[in-house]
Amino acid sequence: MNPAYHFQTVRHIVHGAGSLEQLPEKLALLERPIRRVAFITQPAMERNGVAARVVAALESKDIQVLTVRDVEPEPTIENVETVFGEQIAPFAPDAVLSIGGGSVLDAAKLFAARMTNREPLRDWLGVDRIGSPGIPLILVPTTAGTGSEVTPNAIVTLPDEALKVGIVSRHLLPQVVILDATLTLGLPQPITAATGMDAFIHALESYISTKANPISDMYAMESMRLIGANIVDAYRNGSSLAAREAMLLGSMYGGLALTAAGTAAVHALAYPLGGMFNITHGVANSMLLPHVMRFNRDAIVGRLANVARALGLSVHGDDDAAAADSLLASIGTWTEVMAIPQDLRAFGVSEADLQPLAEAALKVKRLLGNNPKPLDLEDIKGIYKRLLP
Ligand SMILES: NC(=O)c1ccc[n+]([C@@H]2O[C@H](COP(=O)([O-])OP(=O)(O)OC[C@H]3O[C@@H](n4cnc5c(N)ncnc54)[C@H](O)[C@@H]3O)[C@@H](O)[C@H]2O)c1
Ligand SMILES: [Fe+2]
Repeated sequence: MNPAYHFQTVRHIVHGAGSLEQLPEKLALLERPIRRVAFITQPAMERNGVAARVVAALESKDIQVLTVRDVEPEPTIENVETVFGEQIAPFAPDAVLSIGGGSVLDAAKLFAARMTNREPLRDWLGVDRIGSPGIPLILVPTTAGTGSEVTPNAIVTLPDEALKVGIVSRHLLPQVVILDATLTLGLPQPITAATGMDAFIHALESYISTKANPISDMYAMESMRLIGANIVDAYRNGSSLAAREAMLLGSMYGGLALTAAGTAAVHALAYPLGGMFNITHGVANSMLLPHVMRFNRDAIVGRLANVARALGLSVHGDDDAAAADSLLASIGTWTEVMAIPQDLRAFGVSEADLQPLAEAALKVKRLLGNNPKPLDLEDIKGIYKRLLP
């Protein structure tokens, strides 16, 4: 029997190709009238004209918009604090809107919460440390993705500790999410691969998490089914709206699964690669995935087999071991087809870095505790070493 668990997510999800057009009317879903919006976005949305269209649509409703462009990719805690202090706080928005990848969605969550909570972000590292709800928040993901739009998490980089750390609080959940797959049509191939694999990993790690439960299992399975069937198509044929739709929905389901169950060792080992070597989140995760799953394999054969069967990877009559191996083989194929790097040397990592990397990963106890098999320092070093072939 499952121990008791608690699941909470966002209030409104608007989904459909072109649904971003509905943004001005969806503001009416918020409890109070909105007059000043801080709009946090990324260069890709300015290049493709989406940002300008959104600003014009809001301004036509007499809403003042401050466009914020200075959130860095995978932002440091100082970057989020500085942008808040120099731009967001002086503008005094009554809502925060973000359209972009996980980097800006996470920052937007922190900005909205910071408007009503005065303490510095460092006080919030960890779980349930934010005192009160923030101002209204609307999130529109353009990668598929982090699932950040539906999670209570925001991840910041701590350069002095060479780590990325999560801030987890129900006060980081947005009020409105808009899922419009047309926004993801222009995602370049390497980002499609890395963020798509990140989404799959959210689902797979939730499915094998020690905290897995009926709600997380349901979202995880559907996420993996959608992503498994579409990731290579989205990579090869980026203009396929059907593949992009499936990836965006699969990514949201991955976020819902991780909210219910939590990610595990892949994410724990990825954080130091981001913190020490600036390897992007999706790339670090997708590099580690095959090796962590091979390490975990004997503890989760039955669960891996379930996934393989749901994805149609195993043939009728296969036993669990053979089915599990068909999933691992398929992950290996995705890695090759989508040219996911498999050598950390390309990012400046050498043998001498294995010890500090493993020591840093060992600090990510919140996620290591979810892993179906315990890992010690030597296990972690062994996994990183596989990426120095
Ligand atoms: N909060 C959570 O639950 C959660 C979960 C996983 C990851 N994260 C965090 O999210 C961050 C990573 O987010 P990400 O992987 O979405 O990447 P990202 O936001 O860093 O974006 C990656 C790149 O893609 C570009 N881009 C975004 N959308 C585009 C589009 N539609 N077309 C063309 N280019 C586009 C961006 O400008 C950027 O250059 C990390 O900091 C990670 O730790 C958070
Ligand atoms: Fe992730």
